[in-house]
Amino acid sequence: MQKHEECEVHETPSRPTQTPPRDTSWRMFDTIAGRYDALNRLLSFRRDVAWRRMLANLLPPGDHLRTLDLATGTADVLLALKRFNPRVASGVGVDMSRNMLRHAKDKIAARGLSDALRLVRSNGVCMGLADASFDAVTISFGIRNMPDALATLHEIRRVLRPGGRALILEFALPKSNVMRALHLFYLRHALPHIGGLVSGNFAAYRYLNTTIETFPYGEEFCALMREAGFRSVVAHTLTFGAANLYQGDA
Ligand SMILES: C[S@@+](CC[C@H](N)C(=O)[O-])C[C@H]1O[C@@H](n2cnc3c(N)ncnc32)[C@H](O)[C@@H]1O
Repeated sequence: MQKHEECEVHETPSRPTQTPPRDTSWRMFDTIAGRYDALNRLLSFRRDVAWRRMLANLLPPGDHLRTLDLATGTADVLLALKRFNPRVASGVGVDMSRNMLRHAKDKIAARGLSDALRLVRSNGVCMGLADASFDAVTISFGIRNMPDALATLHEIRRVLRPGGRALILEFALPKSNVMRALHLFYLRHALPHIGGLVSGNFAAYRYLNTTIETFPYGEEFCALMREAGFRSVVAHTLTFGAANLYQGDA
C-alpha cells in the first residue's frame, strides 16, 4: 500500500481542560472512547442508528463493494454497512484515536468480522492509502472534526475509484425557526451538561455544540464537495434538519 511521506501526522501536546483545536480533536476522543457509544444513543435519542442504516442503503450500485470509513471511531458505520448491505465485501476503518480504534477492534471481533473489516491508524487529511482503491467512502460525524474539511474531501476523492461514491453524515441546524430555536436550546444547554456528566469531559461536549454551530451545512457544504470535484451532489435532510447525509460521486 502506497504511503505518502509528505503529509506526516504532527502530534502536539494536549491541553485536556480546553476546547481542542480541530487538528488534534482526536485526542479528545481518546478520553471519552469508553462512553462514546452509549452517549451517542442517549444524546441522539437513538436516531444515530437509523441514520447509519440509511447511509448503508445509499451505497453505489455494484457487488463486492470495497468500502472505507474515515473517522471510524468505534466502527459503528463499518458494522452497519456490513449488516445492512449484503453487497459490501470489505471495509477499512481509519481513525487517529487509539482508544476509539481499540473499542472498534473488540466490536468487530465480537461479531466475527475481523477478516472483512480492517482498521488503520492514520490522519484523514492524508491517509496514505492507494489512489482509486475504494468503491465507497463514508464519514459520519467526522468531517467537522478534521483539521481541514476541503483537504479531507480531496483526500476522499483521491482514494475513490472513478464513479465511486462519498457518503457524509454530519450534524446541521433545522431550517424552520421554531425547530432551530428548540434544537439550539438543546445543543447549548442540555447536551453539554448530559455529555459532560456521563463522559466526565465537559470540554468534549462543549466542543460538540460549538463545532456544530460553526461548521458549514446544507448548500454551503454541497458547494465544498463540488469544489473538491464531486459530481451529482445531493443533501438528504434527516430528523427535521438536525443532520444531513451528503452524497457525491467521484
Ligand atoms: C464524532 S467521532 C465519529 C465516530 C464515528 N464515525 C461515528 O459515527 O460514531 C469523530 C472521530 O473522528 C476522529 N478524528 C478526529 N480527527 C481525525 C483525523 N485528523 N484523522 C482521523 N480521524 C480523526 C476521532 O478520533 C473520532 O473517532
